[in-house]
Amino acid sequence: MKPINVGLLGLGTVGGGTLTVLRRNAGEITRRAGREITVKMASVRDLEKARKMAGPDLEIVTDPFDVVNNPDIDIVVELIGGYTLSKELVLKAIANGKHVVTANKALLALHGNEIFQAAQDKGVMVAFEAAVAGGIPIIKALREGLTANRIEWIAGIINGTTNFILSEMRDKGLSFDSVLAEAQKLGYAEADPTFDIEGIDAAHKLMIMSAIGFGIPMQFDKAYTEGISKLTREDIQYAEELGYRIKLLGITKRTPSGIELRVHPTLIPAKRLIANVEGVMNAVLVKGDAVGATMYTGRGAGAEPTASAVVADLVDVTRMLTSDPENRVPHLAFQPDALSDTPILPIAEVRTSYYLRMRVYDKPGVLADLTRILADLDISIDAMIQKEPSEGEEQVNIIMLTHETVEKNINQAIAKIEALSSIAGNVTRIRLEELGSN
Ligand code: NAP
Ligand code: HSE
Repeated sequence: MKPINVGLLGLGTVGGGTLTVLRRNAGEITRRAGREITVKMASVRDLEKARKMAGPDLEIVTDPFDVVNNPDIDIVVELIGGYTLSKELVLKAIANGKHVVTANKALLALHGNEIFQAAQDKGVMVAFEAAVAGGIPIIKALREGLTANRIEWIAGIINGTTNFILSEMRDKGLSFDSVLAEAQKLGYAEADPTFDIEGIDAAHKLMIMSAIGFGIPMQFDKAYTEGISKLTREDIQYAEELGYRIKLLGITKRTPSGIELRVHPTLIPAKRLIANVEGVMNAVLVKGDAVGATMYTGRGAGAEPTASAVVADLVDVTRMLTSDPENRVPHLAFQPDALSDTPILPIAEVRTSYYLRMRVYDKPGVLADLTRILADLDISIDAMIQKEPSEGEEQVNIIMLTHETVEKNINQAIAKIEALSSIAGNVTRIRLEELGSN
């Protein structure tokens, strides 16, 4: 059978990894796909660098439109990133009747509705396993393996860079900046690492999983995003003392009033498997009504782990080329005309537990004031520690864990606590999830 011709847009970390894996495992891949998958051409900006990486045999161009407009290319693999040029290229490839594989979560979270509609109209596939959690086949699991279930919630460590930073800072006492530089050197970080640090990359991935899990359209502007830049060593240490680990978690949950969609640093009980997922490893927990909780873990970033997912998509698309476009697995798991308009809840309506840390003047009546404020707002305390003041200090740290409550009540409580004359500075608030299997 005629080989499938692939055009790679980008030969960086993921593009290079994809070329390497396709070449190294060509024999096995052909036996699985039923025909050869050949990289016919690639586009980059820096030809010299690319030539060194790819060797003399590959046609390399500097205009990516030469790839998407080439009639010999069957599948375009978009590994450039961003959402301006990449959107133009993907839509052009679709218009030219080509199938698309992409690792670009930002593109899909922002423009997925338009891209999937265009692909549907044209009868082509857009595959994106590599866009979420690197090498973990979580899209396949959510869209196909768990298809019998009503998904209740999904929670995951879905950014390798920040998990790497948190682990290295905790275990080796290294500075934030030096670990970030290492993550960039290893090819984990986004072109703009603010996307990693501030939780934006994780929110892109969470949006995609939420859409597939709950059958809703992409609506990235409604995601709540908070990164790790304000986390302190002090809070990481206190969380450990209380039996918790802090991870940057993406959480999406079905509730009676809507869907929660949020990324933020989160205390997780240290005994949970997911709390022990370290370094560049990612992990996604999915709770389905029939199966219960399932967990998927593996490398969430880097050249070959991500290439593993890209190549899996190439094989999937190759196998399905001759199938009836109307009877393929839908892009977002649910049939395009069966998506739901369930609202995404604003963060003030989210229900969770909280870690609160405040610095208070060590004098009588302070605790009574704090507990009264919380009680008046129906917030119940689960645990509390008061640290001894260091020598010569007038203030002490008080740390409280609350039971589950609604975020708007915690906001009110924090405002009232910060207004007390016995409180110094601001209250630190970190959300807490038990992530039990019930
Ligand atoms: P990268 O190493 O920076 O590679 C980007 C490639 O695209 C390079 O070959 C670059 O060419 C080319 N490129 C960039 N801008 C271009 C432009 N304006 N015109 C033409 N070519 C351009 O990026 P990456 O880490 O492989 O990431 C690629 C995509 O995969 C992104 O969407 C990213 O979010 C996603 N992703 C990355 C990982 C990971 O671990 N790195 C994991 C999952 C998903 P030059 O090198 O010649 O400049
Ligand atoms: N920058 C991303 C991360 C790459 O660190 O997880 C994988 O999507």
